[in-house]
Amino acid sequence: MDSRAFRDALGRFPTGVAVVTAAGADSHFGITVNSFTSVSLDPPLLLWCMDRRSRRHDVFAKAAGFTVSILGTDHKDVSSRLARPGEHSLDDIALIETELGPPALADSLAIFECAVEKKIEAGDHTILLGRVLRFSCPSASAPLVFFRGKYSALDQNS
Ligand SMILES: Cc1cc2nc3c(=O)[nH]c(=O)nc-3n(C[C@H](O)[C@H](O)[C@H](O)COP(=O)(O)O)c2cc1C
Repeated sequence: MDSRAFRDALGRFPTGVAVVTAAGADSHFGITVNSFTSVSLDPPLLLWCMDRRSRRHDVFAKAAGFTVSILGTDHKDVSSRLARPGEHSLDDIALIETELGPPALADSLAIFECAVEKKIEAGDHTILLGRVLRFSCPSASAPLVFFRGKYSALDQNS
């Protein structure tokens, strides 16, 4: 299979964008993801998929929990920063504390604080299934969208 063409085909599915944060040995880390998916309402489960080639794979895979922040259009720069290779530090990013540990991004549309329920090895990715222990919806701003390899926004007039 032509993997470039496969990737491009997958990119025709528009998604939102999230940042997942987790605790490392002595600080917290973040990564931009669009593989976030809701899984179950009862029990409350969600998942995201992490590339096993990522430098931070082991940090995220070893963490007992993680926080998902759903991004708005104002988070475009922070999203690009946390998608840069090797750039996972949260220094100088506006954060809010969470009850369970890994901080959330300020002004997120929604925040999900999760305990890792299960890790599933799936090809070149690890599926991280999280049980949602707390959630909140701090901001009602427009969502950041990712489509065909580019950031976009919803046309909220149609
Ligand atoms: C919009 C967007 C969505 C992404 N989604 C994912 C994802 O779901 N899973 C993942 O492992 N990496 C994803 N990435 C890539 C990571 O954000 C990041 O680029 C990569 O982890 C950097 O390499 P490193 O982890 O080795 O430093 C995404 C990048 C962008 C820009």
